[in-house]
Amino acid sequence: MARRSQHALLLLSAVLASLVAGSTAGVYHIVGAGKGWRMPPNRTYYDDWARSRQISIGDKLMFLYRSGVHNIVEVPTRALFDVCSMRNITSRYQNGPTIIELGEAGPRYYFCGVGEHCEVGQKLAINVLLVAPPQLDTTNAGAAAPACLFRHAAGLAAACSLVSVLLLLMVV
Ligand code: CU
Repeated sequence: MARRSQHALLLLSAVLASLVAGSTAGVYHIVGAGKGWRMPPNRTYYDDWARSRQISIGDKLMFLYRSGVHNIVEVPTRALFDVCSMRNITSRYQNGPTIIELGEAGPRYYFCGVGEHCEVGQKLAINVLLVAPPQLDTTNAGAAAPACLFRHAAGLAAACSLVSVLLLLMVV
């Protein structure tokens, strides 16, 4: 398939997915913000990103990447995550972009299973909170772009996804 049509498909699927997913409550978190899901500039990039936000039940992680270039695997323990071990994968996603809805509180561990991408830092550990802190909306309001923190606003979320995907395409 031509590169241009792959990009169009990526764009279309991201927007459609966000429209569908946007019908329920929850905050969209564009993993890695403007960089999307890729080999990061440093090993702590996704750690830093995760530390900068509060992620709660019902929220969605949006991983922006091109199919075949990166993927996402989920492992159940910190120990497996730390050593990038794929011996006990609980979920695998390979058709980017991927939206994962977080239905349970507690830690979640994701990394890219392609090549040595995990070893160089393409890995994300988060802790899903039981409920959103009451001050979340006002606290994060100033940092909305390009992090895309919209509650109960499917249209806005879709527009935000569109912008994010366009940003991603410009750098891919
Ligand atoms: Cu990768």
